[in-house]
Amino acid sequence: MPGKLPQEFTLSGLRKGRASVAVVTGAGIDAEAGIPTFRGDQGFYEDKEATYLASVNALEAEPSRVWHWYLKRFVSLHDTHPAHSHFALAKLEAELDEKFLGVITQNISGLHRKAGSQKVFEIHGCIQEMRNLKTGERQPLPNSWVESPPADEELISWRPNVCFFGESYDGFPLPEAEEACNSCDIMLVIGTSGVIPTPVLLSEMAQLSGAVVVNINPHPGKVDKVADMNFRGTAAEYFQEFFYHDQN
Ligand code: OAD
Repeated sequence: MPGKLPQEFTLSGLRKGRASVAVVTGAGIDAEAGIPTFRGDQGFYEDKEATYLASVNALEAEPSRVWHWYLKRFVSLHDTHPAHSHFALAKLEAELDEKFLGVITQNISGLHRKAGSQKVFEIHGCIQEMRNLKTGERQPLPNSWVESPPADEELISWRPNVCFFGESYDGFPLPEAEEACNSCDIMLVIGTSGVIPTPVLLSEMAQLSGAVVVNINPHPGKVDKVADMNFRGTAAEYFQEFFYHDQN
């Protein structure tokens, strides 16, 4: 069972207080929408082929194969609905207005935007966008590709606008994410193992600027040691606690 949440970290506490909030999310929040996480028993990366296809080496060597693998995910995510926790974050943003500094997500699903979040920094890119290999121009993937996949010739000048293994964060909104972490009073870190260390680094950055870091995860992970508070439960349980307190 998750522990009792101090009042200042509930929605009503945040409303009454003057704290600004930044949120970092990982695959755990999308798991509540039915998308597998990357690591763990049922994890996406249990399939070794997936780790290869998500790498810059594969993109360079077999772009068409990589594209078709991403297109499968694009199609399956098209009809995926956000979970209660995604909507709860959109509500939190609406409630806190300018005190809400943004959702920084490692997820490429686009579910935060689908749920109505406005300030979203997709630091690993998003599956619904492609980037021109020569000009860097970005375009949404046409919705028609859900029903009928494009021919290889249509893809040849483009790549998925996601961050591959072996690539830097260049071109992704990491500076904006860092700015939010440096400026917030409370940082919520939801559903990330921290194996890719960016959430740990962002947490350390926020703490150095004086923020309180709350880690929400049912399992131990690499964020635990930097967090001021570990809420050992799911995102859904955390938000339940939010709304429970809110009614009192
Ligand atoms: P992981 O799969 O490494 O970790 C998922 C985390 O979610 C684990 O710590 C789980 O305990 C936790 N979790 C599971 N269900 C949860 C729930 N209902 N509520 C809260 N937490 C829950 O995924 P990430 O840390 O997000 O990058 O992975 C980071 C990056 O690694 C991904 O963005 C991806 C991958 O390589 C790229 O594709 C560039």
